[in-house]
Amino acid sequence: MIVQKQAKTDLKHVAIIMDGNGRWAKNRFRPRVWGHVRGSHIVSKIVEAAEDYGLEALTLYAFSTENWSRPEKEISTLFNLLKKFIIKERSRILKNGIRFKVVGDTSGLPEATVRLIRDLEETTAYSKGLRLNFAFGYGGRSEIVQAVNSFIRMNPGKTITEEDLSSNLFLSEVGDVDLLIRTGGDQRISNFLLWQLAYAELYFTKTKWPEFSQEEFVKILLDVENRERRFGMISKCHSLSESKDQALHNKDFFTHEIRH
Ligand code: FPP
Repeated sequence: MIVQKQAKTDLKHVAIIMDGNGRWAKNRFRPRVWGHVRGSHIVSKIVEAAEDYGLEALTLYAFSTENWSRPEKEISTLFNLLKKFIIKERSRILKNGIRFKVVGDTSGLPEATVRLIRDLEETTAYSKGLRLNFAFGYGGRSEIVQAVNSFIRMNPGKTITEEDLSSNLFLSEVGDVDLLIRTGGDQRISNFLLWQLAYAELYFTKTKWPEFSQEEFVKILLDVENRERRFGMISKCHSLSESKDQALHNKDFFTHEIRH
């Protein structure tokens, strides 16, 4: 599929909860892990569409802290899929200048996989293309707790601000999420990027992840481009074509006008 690159998009950071793999497989009388394997093929396609569309960052929820309680076979399959993805996509990631990162607790992953991850992260650390992030062994609450603790360690006795907290998160350089998509029909956030989702648009589709397509992805992006984002304000004039900074600047202006 050829995705029309958007001349101007204010959708910069899109995050996805890739849900419904297990149910998709079960509906076909296959083991749950088969759903994950099929789901992993979709990941490459959506990364390609995100690049073509002109997104700055794509963050994919591949393994949550809660997923540690799943059967061992399912956990090892997910580990394996991440490893396979890195091996298979490495040359495309380098060629396209994608900046690759895995966030979360990777301490339970096999050493060889962690080495592959760190190597690709270091090799692409200064790449200027799409920022591709996998949340693996990730939990939003634990990310916030670690951000606060790391601030306290560096600044004993100081009061933490929102900016301090943001800059201590795993993906501080990527910033807030503009759009969260969840496949699979459930309408939950499931401990994903809790801080970064504060002003995100939410989109829930019934499509299960292994059936998600580039076409549906782009349709969602275009649909959300047309939504009005007010960032807590009331004016009808703030749409996605106006950036958040601009909207916040206008808010300061309105506040000033009311006070004087
Ligand atoms: C949750 O839904 C999804 C996951 C725990 C993992 C999703 C991972 C992939 C799609 C593949 C990962 C690929 C790479 C390259 C790392 P579920 O499948 O458990 O869904 P259910 O709600 O149907 O049980």
